[in-house]
Amino acid sequence: FVAVFDFGAQYGQLIARRVRDLHVYSEIVPCDTSAEELKAMAPSAIILSGGPASVYADDAPDMDAAVFELGIPVLGFCYGQQIMAVKLGGKVGHTEKGEYGPAHLVRRGESRVLEGTPQEQTVWMSHRDAVSEVPQGFSVTSVTDTCPVASMEDASRNLYATQFHPEVRHTECGKAILSNFLFNVCGLEPSWTMEGIIDQKVDQIRREVGSRKVILALSGGVDSSVVAALVHRAIGDQLTCVFVNHGMLRKGEPEMVEEVFREQFHMPLVHVHAEERYAKMLAGVTDPERKRRLIGTEFWRVFFDEAQKIGDVEMLAQGTIYPDIIESGARKTGGKAATIKSHHNLIPFPEGVHFDLIEPLDHFFKDEVRELGIALGLPAKMVWRQPFPGPGLAIRIIGEVTPEKLAILKNADAIVREELDAYNQRLFEETGDRNSEHACWQYFAVLPDIKSVGVMGDERTYQRPVIVRAVESADAMTADWAKLPYDVIGRISSRIVDEVEGVNRVVYDVTPKPPATIEWE
Ligand code: XMP
Repeated sequence: FVAVFDFGAQYGQLIARRVRDLHVYSEIVPCDTSAEELKAMAPSAIILSGGPASVYADDAPDMDAAVFELGIPVLGFCYGQQIMAVKLGGKVGHTEKGEYGPAHLVRRGESRVLEGTPQEQTVWMSHRDAVSEVPQGFSVTSVTDTCPVASMEDASRNLYATQFHPEVRHTECGKAILSNFLFNVCGLEPSWTMEGIIDQKVDQIRREVGSRKVILALSGGVDSSVVAALVHRAIGDQLTCVFVNHGMLRKGEPEMVEEVFREQFHMPLVHVHAEERYAKMLAGVTDPERKRRLIGTEFWRVFFDEAQKIGDVEMLAQGTIYPDIIESGARKTGGKAATIKSHHNLIPFPEGVHFDLIEPLDHFFKDEVRELGIALGLPAKMVWRQPFPGPGLAIRIIGEVTPEKLAILKNADAIVREELDAYNQRLFEETGDRNSEHACWQYFAVLPDIKSVGVMGDERTYQRPVIVRAVESADAMTADWAKLPYDVIGRISSRIVDEVEGVNRVVYDVTPKPPATIEWE
C-alpha cells in the first residue's frame, strides 16, 4: 500500500483518493510516524502531502528524517518537497512573489516521474516558500518563471518531489506523474478494484463474525444500505436489519427500503412501525434541539428493544466511513481504537448491553462506498441519494409537527426532489460528472409556521407557503444556494401550488452557508 503523510488540513485525503483512483490502495498516516513504525507497516511507497505551514515555523509539522533511509520510494508535493529538501541538507527560502494558481512549467533534463509528459505544461501551484538549494545528489527536473525548483529528484535513492500539486485536477499531467511514480518507480500493480475489494471484505467479515448474529440499524441512507448489502453478502441471514420508521421519512422512502432489502435482497428485515409513537411524543414540541434529542433517544430505545426480541445478538454493524475516522481526530489520538471508542459513546447503549462493532467501510471514501453499492447491486437512486438528517422531516417543519403539516411537506418535498433529480440527471448527461459543480448537492422543501394571503379562482385564500432549499456543496461545511434556471424554479412553484393542497405560495432560499445553515432548524 501507499502511505500518505498528511502535513495538514485534508491535503492528504485528496492524495489518498487520487492514488485509489489509479487502483492502488492508500492510507493516510500521521506525519510524525517514525521510521520504525513505518517499517512495521511495510508500505511499498510513501507520498508526502502539501500543507499550509512554512517549514521554518515553530509549530510546523515535522517528520522523522530516517524515513528517507528506509529504501522505500518517496514522492513529496509542495510542503512535502520542502521538508524533504530541508531534512536532506538542502535549503528553503521565501520566493519574491508567491505563486498561486496555474503556472507554466518547463522541464529540465531527465526525470522518472515526469517521463512521457510534454516539455512545457500547465501545473497548479500554491506556495510562498520554495526550495532554493537542492540536497546533495538531487537534480532539478523542472522550473517555472518564479520557481527555480519546480521539481527535483534523486533517482538513485528513489526520492522525488514537486513544488506543484499533481493531485489537483488543474495540473494537466498530474495523473501521469502519479502513475509514473506508482507503476514505473515503485512497480505497484493496479489491483485495488471493486471485485477484489468485495471478495477481500467478504472474507474478512466472515472471519470476524464467525457464527455470531449481527444487527444493523438500516436507515435507507447510502452508508447503512451499503453495509447491509456487504455484510449480507458475507454472512447471509445471520444479519438482521432493523428499519425504524419514525414517520418523518420522505415520501416513498419506507417503500424503497422494503422493495430493495426484502424483495430484491431477501434479507431478514424488521420494519418497526413507530409512526404513532413518534407523533405522540412530538406533539406540542417546538424547540429544534428538543426534537432532535427526543427522536434520537427514542430511536435507540426502539432499536435495542428489537435487538432483544431477536435474541443472542452479539454484533452491531455500522456504516462508519474513512472520513469519519480521519476527521474525528484518530490521527491525533493514536489510531483507530480511540475513534471507535468515541463512536461507541455516541450510541446510548443501555445498562449492561454490549455489542462488538463491525465497521467494514471504515477505510472507504464516500465515492468508493457508492461504487461498492453499485457493484453489490443496490439501485443507483439509493446509492446516489442526497444526505438526509436523522431526525428527518421533523426539523424541516418549523414549530410543532402535526399530521397535516407532515402531509403537506411530504408532498411538496416529493415535487422538489422529482424536479431537481431530473435537473441533476440532465447535468450529468451533459457533463458526464455526477459531482459537477452546478449539480444540486442537497435539495428539499421546508414548511414554515406561518400563513399568507393568496387568491385562487375568485377566492381569497389564507394558506401555507413552502420554502424551497437547494444548495451546491462538497461537504456540508460550506454551501451556496444553487443558481437554478428560472424555468426550473417556476415549474417547481407551479407544481407545488397546483398539486399540494393547503399551499398558496412558494419561495426560494437564496442564502449561502455561512451565514445561514443548510437546514432551517
Ligand atoms: P446544517 O443545517 O448544519 O447541515 O448546515 C449540515 C448537514 O448536516 C445535516 N444535518 C443533520 N444530519 N442529524 C443528521 O443526521 C441532524 O440533526 C442534522 N442536522 C443537519 C444537513 O442535512 C446537512 O446535510
